[in-house]
Amino acid sequence: MQLAGTTALLTGASGGIGQAIARALHGRGARVLLSGRRTEALEEVRRELGGNAEVLEADLAEPAGAATLAQRAGVVDVLVANAGLPASGRLERFTQEEIDRALDVNLRAPIQLSRALVPGMVERGSGHLVFVSSLSGKAAAARSALYSATKFGLRGFASGLHQDLHDRGVGVTVVFPSFIREAGMFADTGVKLPAWVGTRSPDDVARAVVRGIETGKAEIDVAPLSLRLGALASGLAPETSARVQRRLGSQGIARSISREQREKR
Ligand SMILES: NC(=O)c1ccc[n+]([C@@H]2O[C@H](COP(=O)([O-])OP(=O)(O)OC[C@H]3O[C@@H](n4cnc5c(N)ncnc54)[C@H](OP(=O)(O)O)[C@@H]3O)[C@@H](O)[C@H]2O)c1
Repeated sequence: MQLAGTTALLTGASGGIGQAIARALHGRGARVLLSGRRTEALEEVRRELGGNAEVLEADLAEPAGAATLAQRAGVVDVLVANAGLPASGRLERFTQEEIDRALDVNLRAPIQLSRALVPGMVERGSGHLVFVSSLSGKAAAARSALYSATKFGLRGFASGLHQDLHDRGVGVTVVFPSFIREAGMFADTGVKLPAWVGTRSPDDVARAVVRGIETGKAEIDVAPLSLRLGALASGLAPETSARVQRRLGSQGIARSISREQREKR
């Protein structure tokens, strides 16, 4: 699908990765509907883009948040479901409300937005859905049980949807970023990774989103080879992979990251 002349609804447009995705979609000629809760940050992105962009405030943790957003968006050709909470930390340290919010924003909202927007896409015989998951949606790590539950869930949802929509003109792509530098929920922690753990940039994620839409590719990793191989190994031999992760010091890194991300619950 070509983006020029389309309308793209982007959630999480006020965040580190969302802003890069907004620029990339807009740069390809799409009209971008920028969604999030922080209207000031969204207005700043809109001003930077110039014309052909609008702000749609929405709280996706609210029961009717996703459905209302879809209704206000009108005709949408491309959905980029990017909003997300880090939901890191040991499960017993979450309140029930925090668990619900993570499930709502990371998983329920993308499903509900798809439910609302897919019929129009099918009717027009064209459209594309992009879900921003995470490498944690392929391989779980310490202190990421809840986050991984939502990100594995997104992968399963998108994979099933891809099969249901393959002959109806609507594409589905899941993007799996690993640690993203410069901006976003990992960069915001300020945690330093060991030298052997590579990172990717928000622009790399944005390029993957555009590639998914333009080529129809079902799944795209945005991660260095070592982490992609690690995720593959985790699928094949989860216990051995978890042991290796522990030996490489993953627990300490996860502890530092989740400590810094507490305020985003
Ligand atoms: N950064 C990384 O290293 C990394 C790695 C893998 C995957 N990811 C995924 O990439 C996506 C973007 O993350 P990011 O790094 O850009 O994080 P971020 O900077 O923290 O941005 C998160 C975005 O989600 C939105 N959001 C949070 N709660 C919301 C709610 N209740 N209703 C509506 N929107 C809400 C925020 O908007 P408001 O605050 O304006 O509501 C913000 O735009 C997420 O799905 C994340 O899981 C990130």
